[in-house]
Amino acid sequence: MSEVGHLWERLEDYAGKDFYPYHMPGHKRRSWGRLPEEIYGIDITEIEGFDNLHQPEGILRDLQREAARLYGAEESFYLVNGSSCGILSAVSCAVPFRGHILMARNCHRSAYHAAYLRKLTMHYVYPPFLDEYDVFDGVEPGQIQEALEQDGEIDAVLIVSPTYEGRIADVAGIARAVHQRGIPLIVDEAHGAHLGLVEGFASNSCQLGADLVIHSVHKTLPALTQTALLHVNGDRIDRERLRRFLRIYQSSSPSYLLMAGIDNALQYAKEDNDAFNRFKERYESMVRNLTDSCRHLRFLPVEEGKQDVGKLLISVKRCSLTGRQLYDILLQKYHLQLEMASVSFVLAMFTVNDGEEAYRRMTQALTEIDGSLRGEKAEKDFRGFETAGYAERHSEPGAENIEKRYKRLSADNFAERRKDSDPERLGYRRKVPDVESFGERGAGDYRENQEERTCKGRGENQEKTSHRANGKRIKRRLCEEGCDSSRDHRKKRERWEGSRTDAIPLAEAWDRETEMISLEESIGRPIGEFINLYPPGVPLLVPGEPMTERLCREIRNALEQGLQVQGVHREKCRGEAREEIFVPVIL
Ligand SMILES: Cc1ncc(COP(=O)(O)O)c(C=O)c1O
Repeated sequence: MSEVGHLWERLEDYAGKDFYPYHMPGHKRRSWGRLPEEIYGIDITEIEGFDNLHQPEGILRDLQREAARLYGAEESFYLVNGSSCGILSAVSCAVPFRGHILMARNCHRSAYHAAYLRKLTMHYVYPPFLDEYDVFDGVEPGQIQEALEQDGEIDAVLIVSPTYEGRIADVAGIARAVHQRGIPLIVDEAHGAHLGLVEGFASNSCQLGADLVIHSVHKTLPALTQTALLHVNGDRIDRERLRRFLRIYQSSSPSYLLMAGIDNALQYAKEDNDAFNRFKERYESMVRNLTDSCRHLRFLPVEEGKQDVGKLLISVKRCSLTGRQLYDILLQKYHLQLEMASVSFVLAMFTVNDGEEAYRRMTQALTEIDGSLRGEKAEKDFRGFETAGYAERHSEPGAENIEKRYKRLSADNFAERRKDSDPERLGYRRKVPDVESFGERGAGDYRENQEERTCKGRGENQEKTSHRANGKRIKRRLCEEGCDSSRDHRKKRERWEGSRTDAIPLAEAWDRETEMISLEESIGRPIGEFINLYPPGVPLLVPGEPMTERLCREIRNALEQGLQVQGVHREKCRGEAREEIFVPVIL
């Protein structure tokens, strides 16, 4: 019997034998407390006959070879510490100590962690912005080429594709541009472990010429949390050096439970093409139906080679709910737990392991919510749900908090809270939404309007590009700055303006002494900690970058909407509903 696809059975088989474990783990394969015996029974370490992940010569070598075959890689490595350790290893291997990396600014934190540990100089490429949906698109080959022409010192390029929201980059084009310079391309494909396995899905980055590719098996395939893969291709990467970094960043006691989970997921992917086809059909049909039937909620359409299958991005930009409100309604009223909420959209994930129920329940819920939004204003939209009594009907902790949260977001309350802030000091006098505009048009509308105002007068040409996807047009404007869209240019300039200034290098900044000061006072000061919305863990600010007015507003806005912001400290002011937000700044 081939070992591939059977690690689980081998573990079970071994559990049934009478070998006594005079070795780790300490549970000795016997149940302890409440976890089931089955888990302990197969949780072994590198004992006789089970190979060693850091020097594989038996079953683990075969499993890794099979993974490489499946994805079209030359060599693959099982990872038990998530894509995070794959990215740490890939960056550390591909770029020399104190070297230079060109990376998309929307990379996951782990890429920045690698840069910090290896004292790298980071050069950023800012992905285009999809204005209609408030998400960053994949970076474009032209951008990479231009950045490489401007800077001859770059040692490697790192991009993310698909993004957390499912945007796919032209990896083949980027690989060509990068390889012309004789340097390697690393693709963080954490969200694309399901790609390139079955016809009808986008190719994966191994098939498109990338040198190092990282997959979180646990994100989009049916595998246990923390499971991931690192693939390597071509001769630009020193394989021994890569193994060295994997030994550094991976546990020396890799879990066989997790590794059997990777093997199981890949076997399933290999054997069940029908399941993938069903997944694609069901998903696309759901998006089409929702697009046709909803008048207020909007859905990022599947678009071959551009938008992945499975990431349902529901935009609330044209209705008066915030992303967090929609998230809460779906959770509390319909018991649908989404992947994330942002200010103007929510994200629901579908995978090959979802059955018909997943599509039916989501479609019903969204159609019903969209129906109740019709012709209503912000306050009434939500009252519609309140009077339906859903908050009272659900007794879970948190259900009652929804009412409070929406009260907090109400227009009157918003004004009340603002009364005791000094707009001059906060530096956003003209930018605080007036009560009327917030209530009438909703947060998204306010934001757009604000941008139109602040960007007037800047030179832009009006050329527009658009392409069709699922019968919908996605617009991306071009401006004088080459492939940047005008809105994109504004967004990136404003959102990440800190990274364009003389920021203190990360390697130095993260080790510097800091003091905690209030968010608004931190404007202009270099920050001492990563600040990011979680999920997805893409830094708004990297240590060393100065806080900006815009980010200050964005952070406060996100917190007020109940989103999780990492890197800030919140404290309730005594006797007041208001809370103070503190951030560490470099001394
Ligand atoms: C784009 C991206 N890369 C890497 C990671 C890290 O993956 P893991 O959780 O498997 O370590 C994440 C996590 O969400 C991610 O979104």
